[in-house]
Amino acid sequence: MENVNKFYEECEKIRTREEMTHLYDSWSTLYEKDLNYADYRGPFMVANALAVLYPGPCENVHVLDVAAGTGLVGEQLAKRGFIKIDALDPSEGMLAKAKEKDIYQTLICAYFDENNLILQQYTGKHEQTSRKAKAYG
Ligand SMILES: C[S@@+](CC[C@H](N)C(=O)[O-])C[C@H]1O[C@@H](n2cnc3c(N)ncnc32)[C@H](O)[C@@H]1O
Repeated sequence: MENVNKFYEECEKIRTREEMTHLYDSWSTLYEKDLNYADYRGPFMVANALAVLYPGPCENVHVLDVAAGTGLVGEQLAKRGFIKIDALDPSEGMLAKAKEKDIYQTLICAYFDENNLILQQYTGKHEQTSRKAKAYG
């Protein structure tokens, strides 16, 4: 718990999103250990909520895990049968830990932003995929 408190202290000093990303980079190796002590249940709850929305087969459901961090949500989704999962996070350090889990198809190092070109390309890619699926299916 010591490092979670330290993280909150450091947050007080942060003025830009880049500084926040740098802070996550520096926390990435201890993030899961620290949150384990704090009994963090967010990823479990998020994955359960998605599983309720998609009660049937979910192998073809595309999920973009925004603010994926080290991949705790993806890990829980994979346990519930989701396999088409991509990750988006601006922190290279956090994404590197997520990559180690080998559950994400694509890892996008970027900020979530409604004007974000990367995100527009991403959603466009999946619209095309589902249009093709409809045309052939
Ligand atoms: C508390 S962590 C949560 C990570 C993961 N979802 C989990 O539950 O363990 C917050 C994450 O949000 C990311 N983040 C912060 N601002 C973001 C933004 N604008 N767009 C996308 N990710 C962002 C950080 O880099 C960090 O990895």
